[in-house]
Parts: sequence; C-alpha cells; structure tokens
Amino acid sequence: MNIQWDADKYTKDFSFVNQYGTALIDMIEGEGLTVLDLGCGNGRLTKLLKDNGFDAYGMDASEDLLKIARAEYPDINFINGDAADFSEHGRYDVVFSNAVFHWIDKAKQPRMLSNVHDTLKPNGQFIFEMGGYGNNALIHEALKKEFAKRSLRYIMPFYFPTIGEYSAMLEQAGFLVRSAVLFDRPTELNGENGLYDWIRMFVKTPFTGMDDALCEDIINSAVSQLEAELFKNGKWYADYVRLRCKAEAIF
Ligand code: BEZ
Repeated sequence: MNIQWDADKYTKDFSFVNQYGTALIDMIEGEGLTVLDLGCGNGRLTKLLKDNGFDAYGMDASEDLLKIARAEYPDINFINGDAADFSEHGRYDVVFSNAVFHWIDKAKQPRMLSNVHDTLKPNGQFIFEMGGYGNNALIHEALKKEFAKRSLRYIMPFYFPTIGEYSAMLEQAGFLVRSAVLFDRPTELNGENGLYDWIRMFVKTPFTGMDDALCEDIINSAVSQLEAELFKNGKWYADYVRLRCKAEAIF
C-alpha cells in the first residue's frame, strides 16, 4: 500500500469509510463463521463483524492503525500483515474487505487475490468493496489539470478497475464471481474544508517531495475548480464510485 496513515485523524474525521462498510456485512451468508477483515484499519468493522456473531480477525499493514484497534477492542485478534503479501493457508470461511484494494498497485493485484484464495477454505466467501472505475474522477481530473498548469505530471495513485477487468482477475485467481456491482455513491465530507482535508489525507504520493506552499496552491486551486460540482447546500461531497463484489473460492 502506498500511504503513511495519520491514524488518529483518519479515525476521527474519516469515519464514513467504516460506516459505509456495514452494508457489506449483510452479504455474508451463514452464522458464526471465521472471518478475516483484510485491511482492517482501526478495527471498527472487525468489531462489527464480531458483534454480528462472527469469529472475526483483523489484518492491516499499518502498526499505527493496529495500535488504535488493539486498544479499542482488546478481545479481538489483530494481525500485522500486508494484503498483497500474507499467508494463512485455508484458515477462513470468509475474507472481507472494505475500501482497501484500490490502494494496491495493479501489478500486485493477482498475487493479492491468489493469497486471498489460498487463505479461504473450499467454497469460502470473498466479499469486498473498493473504489471502482471512475472513482473520484472529478477530483483527480482537477488535480491533474493543476499539475499540468505548472508543467508537472500527475500520476494517478490508485487502481480503480471496471467490473470486467476485476472479474477476469478474480477468475484467474480461482474465484467464481457471484455478484459484481459498480455504483455511484456521492459521499458527504466533514467540515467546511472537507474536500481540502480529504485530498490532504488521501492523495499523498503525487505530492511527495513537493514544497508545502506549492502543494497548498495546487490543492486550493483544484478545490476552487470543483466547488461548482462538489459543494452543495453548504457541504462538500466526494464523487465516489464503488465496486462491490461477492466471489466464491473454487478448488
Ligand atoms: C475510496 O474508498 O474509494 C478511496 C478512499 C480514499 C482514497 C481513494 C479512494
């Protein structure tokens, strides 16, 4: 994954990431199953999985986020591991993941999916949501324009696949795709600087090594550009598009 999390700020100001994940839990079929929450972050959804009667485990690559998760939910087992590089052979009935896979480079996706497959029991359920094709397209276009005005190249830091592209990868990794949906989900952001804060929090790599005054100038210009489309009735919205899938591990 390509981000250094500000774990406290993420937990306090970006809790919608977890709130929206609850609908995914309803997609799990069966009771009392062993579930791995892959990319569990601060553990809020892992806790909700446990509250729903599942034997829930969390895995994340960020020690800072795991520290928060372990302090909040000491009765849950949180494992330090990278979604693109872990191995827990045949241990889980379900692998669950919300808002994680778009952080993983396209080149690493086949290996990650094959790890997930290996981690599941036969016919295990793989249920996830990620940013899909067109996710935050207005935001990234505006940033790209502002970079270009300054003769800089904007390199898109996320992977937002189509249903077709990702289903093919899932099949290649040994999954049967049971359902896949791509849908718009405009998402309200917190506070009067909601969009500025969101860009600062999540879009890190294109600004690596850049002078802070220049970063601010680019982000503020992009935010002004986006006001007409993303600021409505006193609130900022991000143009989220979700790819929500359910797949079955075939052996
Ligand atoms: C997402 O959940 O789609 C997302 C969140 C932060 C940055 C990029 C995408």
